[in-house]
Amino acid sequence: MSNAEASDTHFLNSFSVVLGILIIVAIGLFALARSLGQVQLKDQMTQATYLSAVQNNIAPFGQEAVAGQVNPALTAATAAPSAPAAAVPKTGEAAFQQVCSSCHGLGLNGAPKAGDKAAWAPRIAQGLPVLYQHAEHGYKAMPPRGGTNWPDATIQAAVNYMVSLAKK
Ligand code: HEC
Repeated sequence: MSNAEASDTHFLNSFSVVLGILIIVAIGLFALARSLGQVQLKDQMTQATYLSAVQNNIAPFGQEAVAGQVNPALTAATAAPSAPAAAVPKTGEAAFQQVCSSCHGLGLNGAPKAGDKAAWAPRIAQGLPVLYQHAEHGYKAMPPRGGTNWPDATIQAAVNYMVSLAKK
């Protein structure tokens, strides 16, 4: 073996050893990073605050209204939270503006539109007691008390107001 060949072999040998050590270190670092990341992720994902934050973030998209279909679950979910906190309005008109108009203003979900004589005529024909009853206890997609906890008198005043609009 010439001198040059011997030093080449020596270089190759030490180079392979260094390369091997580097690869082992790299694999070790990778494994360490993975296990550390997993522990942290697991901790975070199971924290109640994290979970509820995720729930809150996706809540607005968790429901979908389907056009042309009655979506009572959706109306109950959207009408209920805002309503009970609201103070009891003093007049039928105020009650209508505050809550009933959210569905009856535009005639959403098959709600008879306020002021629409054709929509209200057959309902008015049932008589006020039936309308009161349906408004207070709910009727098909109409939520009980429009999703509020207002007393009968307030609900009845709101019904009277809507009936008066349909008679103008
Ligand atoms: C979440 C939407 C929604 C809200 C809020 C709402 N309504 Fe309705 N209401 C409806 C729907 C839908 C109908 C039609 C039900 C049917 O006949 O299928 C209806 C029907 C009615 C009727 C007619 C019932 C009948 O016998 O024909 C009355 C009266 C009425 N609502 C009163 C009220 C009053 C008063 C309020 C406010 C306190 C109110 N509604 C709030 C959706 C709503």
